[in-house]
Amino acid sequence: MKNGKGIASVGSSSRANGVNSVGSVATRISANEPLSVAAALAGQRVLITGTTGFIAKAVLEKLVRDVPGIASIVVLLRGSRAQPDAAQRFQAEVLRASVFDRLRRDDPQRLHDACRRMRVVSADLAKPDLGLSPDAFAALARYIDVIVNVAASVDFREPLDQALAINTLSLRALTKLARAAGGIPLVQVSTCYVHGHHRGMIREALAPPARSAVARNPNGHCDVDGLVAELQSKAADVKQRITDPDARSQALIALGIREAQRRGWNDTYTFTKWLGEQVACAGMAGGTLTIVRPSIVESAWREPQPGWIEGMKVGDAIVLAYARGKTTLFPARPAGIADIVPVDLVANSIVLATAQALARPGQRRIVQASSSTRNPVRVGDYIDLCQSEMRDNAAAYPRLIRRPLARPFRTIPRWLFIGYLSVAYAAANAANAVARWLGADANLALFDRLQTTRELAIVFSFYTSPRYVFDNRELLAMAAEFSDADRQRFEVDPRCFDWPSYVARVHLPGLERFALRNTRAEEAAVPATTTASLARSPSA
Ligand SMILES: NC(=O)c1ccc[n+]([C@@H]2O[C@H](COP(=O)([O-])OP(=O)(O)OC[C@H]3O[C@@H](n4cnc5c(N)ncnc54)[C@H](OP(=O)(O)O)[C@@H]3O)[C@@H](O)[C@H]2O)c1
Repeated sequence: MKNGKGIASVGSSSRANGVNSVGSVATRISANEPLSVAAALAGQRVLITGTTGFIAKAVLEKLVRDVPGIASIVVLLRGSRAQPDAAQRFQAEVLRASVFDRLRRDDPQRLHDACRRMRVVSADLAKPDLGLSPDAFAALARYIDVIVNVAASVDFREPLDQALAINTLSLRALTKLARAAGGIPLVQVSTCYVHGHHRGMIREALAPPARSAVARNPNGHCDVDGLVAELQSKAADVKQRITDPDARSQALIALGIREAQRRGWNDTYTFTKWLGEQVACAGMAGGTLTIVRPSIVESAWREPQPGWIEGMKVGDAIVLAYARGKTTLFPARPAGIADIVPVDLVANSIVLATAQALARPGQRRIVQASSSTRNPVRVGDYIDLCQSEMRDNAAAYPRLIRRPLARPFRTIPRWLFIGYLSVAYAAANAANAVARWLGADANLALFDRLQTTRELAIVFSFYTSPRYVFDNRELLAMAAEFSDADRQRFEVDPRCFDWPSYVARVHLPGLERFALRNTRAEEAAVPATTTASLARSPSA
């Protein structure tokens, strides 16, 4: 751990002799000794981003519950409209969230103690230098020992400028922070889907774009500075030309999807996350970087509670399609292998990656927290499991199933679904042209709806029509470096669960209980006593 006494030292230069390097990590362990999470993280100050979101909450809870020797957890977040003060927002949205229900019930003292050692840094990852003053940036760098970056925009269709800022350019600031901190490790949470339109077995390695050429650096990553500058300039051009905020936002969304698809990605999210990986590799060259790529993350298998989840996720479109009966045709490839992974396995992967990076620094590693090679389930079988549980036990899901279930939807191939919508779109377009020719009003609302539905279908159905599986041997090899006890406590192997139990006994009940709960009313009832001691950063 670096020198320093609590968060006050973040602004007050408490580091002795400027010693602040990876070499100061006392817990580095020889190659053949099994690693220990507790030993690697003992006395360390861990900066984590994204804790108002789904996955980082699970990581935070696991660190608090199972790694009490951490010196300090520094949470970096921004204020929101409802909670402009970041520390108050953290109390209201994170510490009172359902993810801490178990600790509040079983070990409130542990949560209380951890809160006393937590620090809040109010910062915006989408701004240069995280929006911090030079002094605050330097003070933060002096304080921390490792960075775990979970934050992102996970919107497939984010306006391009915003997606670039949060998913790509933030890595410039974070790698600068890691260097300013003396070369501390960065754990970057990415996504398996950075592979874009590559097919087959997707390895835990960097990959070039599927549809265009970008020069590769001798270190293996692509040099993307020119490409990022080109994208920024296109976005700036749109912003200059279009002044109406809605039209401008739509144009930036369309630009992002267009640029992503012509280069070999499905959507703006995965494209900008891929760019982020390249920026991270460039900024951390010669340092310690671990990229953790989850696939589609859903409710917890066991921890903090079976089924714990926040909101409905990407994979739950299948559940909603049936439960709400809003669709009769669903674009999917039943023979494709779905890749869904419970959030606790992802959180454990991130914790192990952090411990390994601290204990065995100096390497670049990529691991995939996925299920499709170790514990595959076909898309069609997953749909059947969801539908049969909802049909057989409908009464157990009053929030999910609001009226008697409709007939099951039918899956149709992606190309056919998009083809239908394209025909409907062309017909609406032609009808509008005829209407205008006859001097009548065109039905622009229908036209817009069809266009949006078609665009959404193209983007979304990529995930339900997989032609790829994600290797996770590097993840399992990483876990094998840890002691048996840690491998059990921080389970990452998707063979630990079976799909029928997961769907019927864990995931669907979890959606009912956590995703569709009356969040505001229930969370307002949580006492604030455990959070009262949360320290806050005066300097950042
Ligand atoms: N969920 C999945 O299925 C999945 C799958 C694969 C990979 N991943 C990766 O896992 C990570 C976490 O995903 P998630 O599902 O937990 O996402 P999430 O619930 O949407 O959370 C995103 C987090 O990022 C923060 N953030 C966004 N913009 C920010 C900014 N400018 N400054 C500071 N913080 C900012 C958000 O804060 P605000 O509340 O302030 O917006 C929020 O805390 C991402 O890197 C994602 O790419 C997720």
